Amino acid sequence: MPEQVSRMTKLIPYLQTLEDELKRPLNIVETGCIRQITHKSNISDGHSTEHICEFVKNSEYPHAFVSIDIDTSVCQKYLTEKKLIDYVHFIQGDSLSALHFINSGLDFVLLDTANNADQIFKEYMLIKNKLMPHSIVCIDDANLDEPTWKKGDKIIPYMVERGYNLEMIEDRVAVLRRLKTI
Ligand SMILES: C[S@@+](CC[C@H](N)C(=O)[O-])C[C@H]1O[C@@H](n2cnc3c(N)ncnc32)[C@H](O)[C@@H]1O
Repeated sequence: MPEQVSRMTKLIPYLQTLEDELKRPLNIVETGCIRQITHKSNISDGHSTEHICEFVKNSEYPHAFVSIDIDTSVCQKYLTEKKLIDYVHFIQGDSLSALHFINSGLDFVLLDTANNADQIFKEYMLIKNKLMPHSIVCIDDANLDEPTWKKGDKIIPYMVERGYNLEMIEDRVAVLRRLKTI
């Protein structure tokens, strides 16, 4: 059986594309960091924080990666063990408070906190004016046909209506970006 890979690794080519296009350090924000380390959590949750840190580590640019969660302790310990802790800045707190402190000029955002359409929509509304025309916004657990995953239910129709193109990774991670922006 081929080894399963995390769907979050499939976000890395989007980051790579932004880096290739912009040729400068990227501003990357994630809400919802790694919350558990089990033998399956790399696949079930995705371990986005780890995979984005690997991207930052391997890049020639000093990308700025901020990860927000109400409890960053598991993730901090894990990334320290993996020697990736220097590639992310954590903000511990509620995402709806923390996003106020995020600077404008975001290139790449992953929204992955509560399985709640309103929560993710509110997070988006807080960063909406901090995005640029080329920005990429990703939502995990966002398949609109899936009755248990609610994260994309409000934000996806809202963004698509406003000109964003939607691609799905593994029928689960929504990647939203305006076409022809650079
Ligand atoms: C699905 S997990 C994130 C998984 C992670 N992105 C990964 O790929 O492994 C959701 C996380 O959101 C956090 N969370 C839930 N509600 C939150 C809120 N209102 N503010 C900040 N973090 C929140 C939880 O503590 C949890 O760690």
